[in-house]
Amino acid sequence: MNLSQMARTIRESVTLKLNQTAAQLREKGEPVIHLGGGEPKSKTPIDAVIACTSVLNSGDIKYTPPDGIPALKRAIIRYTEEHYGRSVRPENVVASSGAKQAIMAALISILDPNEEVIYPVPYWVSYPEMIKLAGGVPVAVRAEDGSFCPTVDEIAAAVGQYTKAVIINSPNNPSGVMYSRDFVEGVVDLCRRKSLYLIMDDTYNRLVFDGRAPINVYDFAQEDLDTSRVIVINCVSKMYAMTGFRIGWAVAARELATAMATIQGQQTSGPATPSQWAAAGALNGIQTSIDALRVTLENNRNVLMERLEAFPGIRVTKPDGAFYTFPDFSNYMKDSKKLAEFLLEKVRVVTVPGVEFGMEGHLRISFCGTIKEITEGIERIRWALDPTSPNEIYIGTRRLVRDWM
Ligand SMILES: Cc1ncc(COP(=O)(O)O)c(C=O)c1O
Repeated sequence: MNLSQMARTIRESVTLKLNQTAAQLREKGEPVIHLGGGEPKSKTPIDAVIACTSVLNSGDIKYTPPDGIPALKRAIIRYTEEHYGRSVRPENVVASSGAKQAIMAALISILDPNEEVIYPVPYWVSYPEMIKLAGGVPVAVRAEDGSFCPTVDEIAAAVGQYTKAVIINSPNNPSGVMYSRDFVEGVVDLCRRKSLYLIMDDTYNRLVFDGRAPINVYDFAQEDLDTSRVIVINCVSKMYAMTGFRIGWAVAARELATAMATIQGQQTSGPATPSQWAAAGALNGIQTSIDALRVTLENNRNVLMERLEAFPGIRVTKPDGAFYTFPDFSNYMKDSKKLAEFLLEKVRVVTVPGVEFGMEGHLRISFCGTIKEITEGIERIRWALDPTSPNEIYIGTRRLVRDWM
């Protein structure tokens, strides 16, 4: 088939693919444990359900403005005031079909062909592909010390004549690490000095643990929003556990927001109307669900860390937020894809290969599932890899005997 060069170069979303594989195996009755997931188990907040069903019941569901209904924009403005202490106008807000579309529309709006976008390693799997889709060139920056965050100097060293933007995601998918305030301040300052856009992907912004406060990029970017090159991305997907609604948004300079709205207007039109009402309901409603989710995730993280710290031969960094951790399993197998396939085949545990996030030898392990899934999943992984484990294990009613070590 004569597909475009673009279609041939863009890689499939590994995480979505893994969800599919896990679902198919489960349908066949396989006792799969999914530690590769990227969505909380909790239910949609009740205020979102009420707002959504009420518009559905009206039967009057039509196109909306490409950058969102006024009610959602008002909710986003209020959210931005409350959580970022920043007053913004409706013209600064673009509601999109998920954070993914908001980032994509921003990239299309700022990139000319072959301009570069810098982001730290490890990175969210979609950044390189999205940058390529927008005609740009992805530039991943690795910390020389092997940690999960390069220094500002290392980021600065990657800036060249074609650099147009930097993307920062904190707390980070896949490492769970929250970048330091100094780092975020340094990147804001670098972008200001070099006239670069800064896309601050705050998808997990408020899911932070140990009593820490979320980082507010505007603390370091006080300039007038309409001359600022800072673009803040958010969504209801993770913090409100509303992945299926597909609502995200960007807050940006008016000119950029207008360009993004125009692009969305030609690409998809406005996001789905019931989803926009649901998102407005969630943002305006009782906020206890986020606190409850954060407490659950922190507890899950603690249980997972206990298990991983007792796992011989791996190196793990304690996540500060989000719901992922990114241990180094290279002592067991250097090729993370092979390792993830091995674990799925032998003990039916889904993990995501680190190579997809730019770090070979690691696996991304999610802790957004239940405690039972986490403990049993890690027990199975340890059984499969650690030669000092007993020779057999039960998975459900199935008895497995290790015949590979
Ligand atoms: C860092 C990051 N940004 C953006 C997104 C996309 O969010 P949405 O589902 O709202 O498109 C994800 C989803 O996994 C993510 O991890």
